[in-house]
Amino acid sequence: MNKRFITFEGGEGTGKTTLIEMLMKDLLASGFDAIKTREPGGSKISEQIRNVILNVDNTEMKYMTEALLYAASRCQHLEEVVKPALNSGKVVICDRYVDSSLAYQGYARGLGIEKVYKINDYAISGFYPDLTIYIDVDPRIGLGRIKSNHRDMNRLDLEKIAFHDKVRNGYLEVSKMFPDRIKVIDGNDTIENIYQKIKEIVFESIK
Ligand code: TYD
Repeated sequence: MNKRFITFEGGEGTGKTTLIEMLMKDLLASGFDAIKTREPGGSKISEQIRNVILNVDNTEMKYMTEALLYAASRCQHLEEVVKPALNSGKVVICDRYVDSSLAYQGYARGLGIEKVYKINDYAISGFYPDLTIYIDVDPRIGLGRIKSNHRDMNRLDLEKIAFHDKVRNGYLEVSKMFPDRIKVIDGNDTIENIYQKIKEIVFESIK
């Protein structure tokens, strides 16, 4: 079967959003019926769940609670947005999916990849993407890209980098667990070069 459910993964400053935009343009120009989405992706219930996760008052939220809420939101978005689009023959490009939870909650927050995998596998009933593009960027470069001023690193920046190093290591672990599904793209390059690699892989997988 053609590979039509495609997810994008990566840390901060990987250029995910721009790359997805570029891909969408080419897919539509080539006659593919394609949509892009991201959790909560316009699903009312997913949105409500996400508000609980992001609410700054919820400082006492446990990492496990957060992982379960992400999984719940994912289930709703999958059933309400992704599956109907796939069933009507569309290519679905989703910005973040299960691998975000595996890298952030499982590895970086320390819950354990296996544990978070189990929660998500249950929440999505084993519905994995056909293809996942993971853009691998050194956080020092990624965070530097999004930082407009070039002041020296302060303590918070360094903490941030330590966390994003963990996220990156998490993604690399997860990529090793699912080598057939996840394609690791070297993101330490120009956006045009990164995009050409992604375009080749995606168009090959959906043709
Ligand atoms: P967001 O503002 O949507 O931006 P971006 O995708 O451009 O980074 O931030 C999403 C944040 O939520 C990001 O820091 C990763 C985090 N996240 C998780 O920790 N677990 C998840 O399962 C998902 C989907 C996101």
